[in-house]
Amino acid sequence: MGPILPVPVLVAWAIVVCGGAYAVTTCSGAATATVSASQQDLDALKQRFRRPEGVPHPKANPMTPEKVALGKALFFDPRLSRSGSVSCATCHNPSLGWSDGLPQAVGFGMAPLPRRTPPVRNLAWGAAFQWDGRADSLEAQARMPITAPDEMNMSMDLVVERLQAVQDYAPLFRDAFGGEGAITARNVTMALATFQRTLVSGEAPFDRWASGDESAIGADAKRGFALFTGKAGCAACHSTWRFTDDSFHDIGLKAGDDLGRGKFAPPSVTAMRYAFKTPSLRDLRMQGPYMHDGQLGSLNAVLDHYVKGGETRASLSFEMKPFEMDERERRDLVAFLKTLKSEPAAITLPQLP
Ligand code: HEC
Ligand code: HEC
Repeated sequence: MGPILPVPVLVAWAIVVCGGAYAVTTCSGAATATVSASQQDLDALKQRFRRPEGVPHPKANPMTPEKVALGKALFFDPRLSRSGSVSCATCHNPSLGWSDGLPQAVGFGMAPLPRRTPPVRNLAWGAAFQWDGRADSLEAQARMPITAPDEMNMSMDLVVERLQAVQDYAPLFRDAFGGEGAITARNVTMALATFQRTLVSGEAPFDRWASGDESAIGADAKRGFALFTGKAGCAACHSTWRFTDDSFHDIGLKAGDDLGRGKFAPPSVTAMRYAFKTPSLRDLRMQGPYMHDGQLGSLNAVLDHYVKGGETRASLSFEMKPFEMDERERRDLVAFLKTLKSEPAAITLPQLP
């Protein structure tokens, strides 16, 4: 008897990759006995990206249709900015995927901001907000753009004063929060947060495939999923149904002054330097721009970056490893990313009070 060969841990994946559309029988040397095992592995893997049922709302701020309607009006209302011309939706524009399509946002007085506007979508499941996670809830986050001098440049007092002066806001606040005197800073942020929690990506072809419809995505995208969860190592960070671990990593991009999460760590701690929040890959804008500062203009540039593995420095995530990828694999990976795209839900603009 010959030596017993060590079984590679990812043997099932090797089979899956060479089989393309998971037709394992086309793989030379793949033992039939492993077929069901690899299918089981694949099913388990798909499970890890399955959509949850329903949307979580915190007990301290439960969802009601009235609160959502109020939050929506506030989200689209430019009265929340000092100039009276900028609303949340100016930067988080529903027709641009709840973002602005710019490498970096444009703030008060048209001044460029250092970071890109992230889409406000699928955030009900989030744990920390902003690229550096400095807001621990959507309620806390909502104050930040309103009061930031370079964004909406307001004070919460002035917001409340302005809203109180608009007669038709009173019944909206009353219906959402009950009682008189409901126009408060706290309720403004609670309504904004509740509205944003209702913004959820629709079902994508990937979801139909993950729940058993083999014809929902092409063979190329299936190979792309194998790469994404296999040798390309993407799923180490782009995990869960939202394709983000909601954590912070330095992926070795060109660094400027922005330390990201590192700003909150003592200077001796390097790990969080240049670390930013992993963005969700659902409904990714295929035309970019990408990253916290929009420094990568195309998906090809993003893939080039990952293939090279990023700039080597103390804070570089240990999950960043260079790997090889040929032209077909590149196309497969992009085909997979496209299957995370859902039909954009029609959104009716609110009638402002
Ligand atoms: C001038 C453009 C602009 C305006 C106006 C604006 N935002 Fe943003 N938004 C941004 C940028 C840029 C970031 C990233 C900021 C950072 O990471 O420091 C952001 C981040 C966020 C996030 C965090 C998303 C995540 O994935 O962590 C939420 C939520 C959000 N904005 C909601 C709002 C709400 C609510 C309003 C209105 C009250 C608003 N924004 C107004 C540009 C804008
Ligand atoms: C070490 C964790 C990690 C790994 C591994 C990883 N990513 Fe990322 N990804 C991130 C983080 C963090 C960002 C945001 C970085 C920033 O802006 O500074 C990001 C950003 C992106 C973006 C830009 C999204 C946007 O909205 O700007 C894409 C696309 C992307 N990753 C795809 C991939 C693919 C494909 C792979 C595998 C080849 C991969 N990632 C591997 C953590 C990771």
